[in-house]
Amino acid sequence: MRHHMPDDWREANRARWDERVPLHTASDYYDQAAFRRTRDVIREFEAAEVGDVTGRSLLHLQCHFGQDTLSWAHRGADRVVGLDFSAPAIAAARELAAEFGYGPERASFVAADVYDAVQAVPDAAYDIVYTGIGAVNWLPDLVRWAETAASLVAPGGFLYLAEFHPLCDALDDGTGSRVTHDYFRREAWEENTPGSYTDFGAATVHNRSVEWQHPLGDVISAVAGAGLRIEFLREHDMTMFQRFGELRRGGDGFYRFPDDRPRIPLMYSLKATKATKATKATKATKATKATKATKATKATKATKATKAA
Ligand SMILES: C[S@@+](CC[C@H](N)C(=O)[O-])C[C@H]1O[C@@H](n2cnc3c(N)ncnc32)[C@H](O)[C@@H]1O
Repeated sequence: MRHHMPDDWREANRARWDERVPLHTASDYYDQAAFRRTRDVIREFEAAEVGDVTGRSLLHLQCHFGQDTLSWAHRGADRVVGLDFSAPAIAAARELAAEFGYGPERASFVAADVYDAVQAVPDAAYDIVYTGIGAVNWLPDLVRWAETAASLVAPGGFLYLAEFHPLCDALDDGTGSRVTHDYFRREAWEENTPGSYTDFGAATVHNRSVEWQHPLGDVISAVAGAGLRIEFLREHDMTMFQRFGELRRGGDGFYRFPDDRPRIPLMYSLKATKATKATKATKATKATKATKATKATKATKATKATKAA
């Protein structure tokens, strides 16, 4: 789905993200000291849905400074590659990887736009392409994004995406109970907001952001249209920050509406697989056999007809 695009969307967003990297690496939100200890920030639902990553290769699109990427390595992924268009984010990720003792074969990081990922990443395909948690809203063209991500999934592998639910973009910030914005908005959201989600009061210079809403149907259609098979789409009643004033933080660190309020989805996750080569090959073999059988039957019939004549 192509959305309205101000010409300088990429430069504006990159300048904003570049400036926020040092704020984020020093923030309580990303708590680097705790991450250095645990080396794992993957949310429980993601770990359960992605499954065992032992021995697998994983590409993380829009990896920021690599906490999630390196967490997958810690969880046993054989080889992880993170891609982000912010050079300071990639530099910070590389520093962390080196500190953890991962060589480039185990964990490598690439500074590139997500739409250039095919040319930018070191391998042709990965067992798992992982992305999300505030990623697709920075992208104007979901069809191109899905095609890019799908082309990097190895046969038999999958794309996994965990994101904030687009319904939230349509609701009022205070209560999250009134529809105040158009869910189907196609135009870019352009804002000029200092600070960041890690520190709303932080003094910053590059404050312009250009983002896009992507209705759930667009996301699923883009992924399916790119040739992947949707295994599941799950909607979650919790989110990772104070998205609406009325949300309450639970003991598990997630934010939910109080029990006396009807729930709405606040996040979603989806997994979509690529057929194995074997499946394709099997299909091809079956097709060839069927063609041969038809030809053989036709030939026998023709022979019989000739003999009869
Ligand atoms: C909210 S962060 C991703 C969140 C990540 N899960 C985390 O919290 O560490 C969004 C990332 O997308 C990156 N980004 C935005 N637009 C991009 C683009 N067109 N190509 C590559 N990276 C992009 C930003 O630099 C930023 O690091």
